[in-house]
Amino acid sequence: MTKSVSLTLDGNSVELPVVVGSELEKGLDISQLRSATGCITLDPGYGNTGSCQSAITYIDGDAGILRYRGIPIEQFEQSPNFIEVCWLLIFGSLPTEAEYADFSERLTRHAMLDESMKHHFQGFPTQAPPMAILSAMINTLSCFHPDMIEMDSDDKFITAAARLISKIRTIAAFAYRSSIGRPYNYPNPDLLYVTNFMHMMFSLPHAPYETDEIVRLAFNLVLILHADHEQNCSTSTVRLVGSSGANLFASCAAGVCALWGPLHGGANVAVLDMLEQIHQGDLSVEEYMRLAKDKNSGIRLMGFGHRVYKNFDPRAQMLQKVAEQLLTHLKINDPLLEIGKRLEDIALNDPYFVERKLYPNVDFYSGIILRALGIPTNMFTVVFAMGRMPGWIAHWREQQQEGSRIGRPRQIYTGPTLNDYVPRDKRGWKSVSDEDILRPASRQNFEF
Ligand code: ACO
Repeated sequence: MTKSVSLTLDGNSVELPVVVGSELEKGLDISQLRSATGCITLDPGYGNTGSCQSAITYIDGDAGILRYRGIPIEQFEQSPNFIEVCWLLIFGSLPTEAEYADFSERLTRHAMLDESMKHHFQGFPTQAPPMAILSAMINTLSCFHPDMIEMDSDDKFITAAARLISKIRTIAAFAYRSSIGRPYNYPNPDLLYVTNFMHMMFSLPHAPYETDEIVRLAFNLVLILHADHEQNCSTSTVRLVGSSGANLFASCAAGVCALWGPLHGGANVAVLDMLEQIHQGDLSVEEYMRLAKDKNSGIRLMGFGHRVYKNFDPRAQMLQKVAEQLLTHLKINDPLLEIGKRLEDIALNDPYFVERKLYPNVDFYSGIILRALGIPTNMFTVVFAMGRMPGWIAHWREQQQEGSRIGRPRQIYTGPTLNDYVPRDKRGWKSVSDEDILRPASRQNFEF
């Protein structure tokens, strides 16, 4: 196998070592490129750029393969347990019984929020987007646990990881309860991870939330399928923020912000909006597909396409199966599932989507499942964040352990060459003083 590649630019040569991964993926190590040739690489969107070496998750987008620490994602379908997967991703192997018991105990111990955090929820307007609240409150955790800012022992890290994985659930549920004006439900130590979340979301003083094993396992699988996806936008954000030395809470709060966008985790909301729009009769399936292919319409087939998967997204296939099973189990006849399947059928046979290798992604069917579980649409991306939390933590830890450099890409500058500042009076301004220009307007037009 080629060990290095030689590149010559303007008479300057450099040997670029070929780095080979455990699945024989190859990357050119260009870290000496600029010092040797004065040249950088340009790769907007980073489609050809590896930002790190990582041992957490493997994806082969052409073959539709996704593995967590080597384990094919499909193998988690049999007995889905999100907490085991959290441990696997963060610490590298499936937990022993003692590790699982200890980590579960820490999750239970740290599920509560400091009581004064409740006031923060009341400070947000009722219509505040839950992702904004989630990000703010995760960042706020560093105020309540300042001892966790400096991560100087393994035990402290395990506690910080348990705090985040446990409290994101409590924060999510409190944000929801606050938005609908209902009392908060404190975490119940007798309940398992998912059931506890559902209890905090839906229990009423006179009617505790009740669910069954099939629902609990389906929700576990949804979280597992979202748990990590190597260097996606939000994980890369966590790593970039973490590379500056920012603490785990701050880095994960930044990950929530990145996840929010409709081209990333926010797509699960956009898919539901799209299906609703078609269901309400605003657009037919055929009309929507026509617009999705028209670059000027500003419309895409949401939940379709992926930067890495150019065959099928195994998560989407598994989620479609779960959606069908869950709806049958709950005796729900959701017309949106049928619309989704029709869109998928048409797209998979349409040359536009076939030629561009666009297939359903994780967001295409997840919304239908969450809707069947009673999760309101504006909480879908929050649930995605709950699932992705172990992945963010695993990447933050891996980066800290490997001792990365601060993330600082370069650019090709395309602005004006050397220019001069022209004073105001030489630019035709009638008045040159800020006092004269700004006083009348800014003192009268306050907006809140
Ligand atoms: N609908 C219609 N056309 C699409 C779609 C889509 N969903 N996705 C990509 N295309 C087209 C693009 O217009 C482009 O066409 P062109 O080659 O004629 O210009 C081509 O397919 C390639 O698309 P890019 O945008 O260059 O692909 P990229 O890898 O940059 O983007 C992305 C991937 C963002 C996921 C994109 O497919 C998309 O916008 N999908 C819809 C949103 C979505 O579902 N996001 C969730 C992704 S999964 C996740 O993040 C959890």
